[in-house]
Amino acid sequence: MHALMYENIGVKGQHLTFAGLDTSALAEQFGTPLLLMDEDRVRNRCRVYKEAMADFLPAGSHPIYASKALSMQAMYRIMQEENMGIDVVSAGEVYTAKSAGFPMENAYFHGTAKTDRDIAFAMDAGVGCFVSDTVEELDAIQAAAEKRGICQKVLLRLAPGIDAHTHEKINTGRVDSKFGAAITTGQAESLTRHCLGLKNVELMGYHCHIGSQIFAEVPFCQAAEMMLSFLKEMEDQLGFVTRVLNLGGGMGVPYVSSDPKINYRENIRLIGQIIDKYCLELGLNKPVILMEPGRSIVADSGITLYRVVNLKHIPGVKNYVSIDGGMTDNPRYALYQAAYTVLPADRMEDKADMICSVAGCCCESGDLIQEKVALPTPKRGDLLAVLTTGAYNYSMASNYNRVPRPAVVMVKG
Ligand code: LLP
Repeated sequence: MHALMYENIGVKGQHLTFAGLDTSALAEQFGTPLLLMDEDRVRNRCRVYKEAMADFLPAGSHPIYASKALSMQAMYRIMQEENMGIDVVSAGEVYTAKSAGFPMENAYFHGTAKTDRDIAFAMDAGVGCFVSDTVEELDAIQAAAEKRGICQKVLLRLAPGIDAHTHEKINTGRVDSKFGAAITTGQAESLTRHCLGLKNVELMGYHCHIGSQIFAEVPFCQAAEMMLSFLKEMEDQLGFVTRVLNLGGGMGVPYVSSDPKINYRENIRLIGQIIDKYCLELGLNKPVILMEPGRSIVADSGITLYRVVNLKHIPGVKNYVSIDGGMTDNPRYALYQAAYTVLPADRMEDKADMICSVAGCCCESGDLIQEKVALPTPKRGDLLAVLTTGAYNYSMASNYNRVPRPAVVMVKG
């Protein structure tokens, strides 16, 4: 019997069920590879964030969904219905959110390389707030806002100098990061001064994002502390009172049974305690707190189904199971050696008697989904399920080798 990691995953006879539905029947109906999303679970996670932020953080605090984790019209509609804000990071995400009817005043436009065209597109789409970290970009926003006769709300992205000890490629809060103006080098302060001098830009406050797939609450608390003492400095030195502090996303999600479990509500409670304590000590008015979860809204609401295509046994060396998808729909093992749980979705009662590397269909040795996976000796046509694929799979998919992207089916009820 396999360790079933999530409540929405079950077993009926030989078959894996997802949100109460037979995965074999879904694979039959929609074909493979297939990304299944559990809509109720996505909505439920939004509510966990919303309720905890309302309970433990200053009045008006709320979550915004980092839509880079899974960007598609259906997701923006769900976010609208759940009263979530969104983080968008390109003109493409602005376009998709807008075309889904999302109220763009609740959108925050990120990105370290917004072109004049991106800025114009987002402004014309009515994006509520830009998040910026360079003088050049602020000047471009000023020019575009002036041309339109509007005042554009802005948050400044800072690098709080916190090392979140996550994977190197998704660690973003350090001073040497490409993201954010560093507090310790004085750049955060000069960016603030510059921004306050712009006529058509309204500085609302600050943003930081220390990284992704972080389990401990400590780095978030440290970042909050760094940011609050900076807020206090800006208030004392420049008389600038911060109204909004966005603490970014980054809370982790377990992918394999050895990963720590995480209690989002409890983490938010602890962050809230730190905010209360420091605001009191520093004599600061509490700003509205925003958080930007991406992965923890969608990752564990998705699974991907594949068919086994071939089995290659290299005696005494290793076994490859090739599948009808791969790095084109999930590049995360190739990029980060990300761990995943792989299950034999239509042979759940069979004994796992072979250790295999699950290999994708691309002409590339690195196209692997996972290594050292224990499976009942696979045969052509078997169904495999990879769990926790809701975040950064479909949104990072490509058409390398002209392989089509998988269908995404949102299941509900
Ligand atoms: N806010 C900002 C400004 C971000 O850059 C990110 C993620 C988030 C929020 C959401 O972080 P989350 O809650 O999802 O950890 N492709 C990588 C992850 C890259 C994350 C990029 N930024 C992966 O597959 O692990």
